[in-house]
Amino acid sequence: MIESVTELPRLRALVAGWKREGLRVGLVPTMGNLHAGHFSLVERVRERADRVVASIFVNPTQFGPNEDFSRYPRTPDADIAGLDQAGCDVAWLPSVAAMYPLGIEKAMRMHAPGVGETLEGESRPGHFDGVCTVVSRLFNQVQPDAAAFGRKDYQQLAVIRQMVQDMAFPVEILAGDIVREADGLAMSSRNQYLSADARVRAVEMYRTLQAMREARIDGVEIAEIEGNASQRLRNAGFVVDYAVLRQPSLALPDAGGSGSLMALIAAKLDSTRLIDNLEF
Ligand code: PAF
Repeated sequence: MIESVTELPRLRALVAGWKREGLRVGLVPTMGNLHAGHFSLVERVRERADRVVASIFVNPTQFGPNEDFSRYPRTPDADIAGLDQAGCDVAWLPSVAAMYPLGIEKAMRMHAPGVGETLEGESRPGHFDGVCTVVSRLFNQVQPDAAAFGRKDYQQLAVIRQMVQDMAFPVEILAGDIVREADGLAMSSRNQYLSADARVRAVEMYRTLQAMREARIDGVEIAEIEGNASQRLRNAGFVVDYAVLRQPSLALPDAGGSGSLMALIAAKLDSTRLIDNLEF
């Protein structure tokens, strides 16, 4: 049976007990409103851990001033029930005061240069600084041996890997595959903002990623693929932040464009911002 924990001393006592027994601890950081993608991360981390903690915290420091922090869906009871079913041992639900004891203004913060400054970093300035700020705190609170992050937030995964290496966090980072709806739309808590009409059109994002892959296999030039992808999305009513091809490191494709590539898209449908990607 899962235990919900809201106070840091209780969390620390549980983790200390597990470590005394020589058990490995896994962490799944989340912002709640959980879906099958999150539950698959619990399974993923369970492969490398004896006890699993999932955190539920809508982190104010990773939202921009005009973003959806206040309306982000908060469904803790359903989340805890789902985590219990998924075999999670502890749900860690810190308050903002427990996460940022000095208050948000005075809080120590991380900065994510390099890979954190392109794509999402350009569209959402400061976003990855906030992600790294909260994830580093979660690592200190939970002391996990392993932590799992989803590939849908591909750039976030790259930034976290960079942070772990640079800051020498003793945490193994695991990647969870993208979980999709039957029509191909990547699962996301933000999908529920979509109107019925927008939900039908949203699948065009995944279809565009697939078209980008096919075009590259057919030898079409990268700039042409990116231009066609943006146009296709605009035709479906999206406002496009980016539709690009990158190396898996997120560097620009090399001149020959050989080796694996990533297609990455961020675009808004009405007021809902969606992201997705495909590696090939
Ligand atoms: O991917 C998310 O849900 C969040 O960015 C994370 C990693 C839980 C940090 O708040």
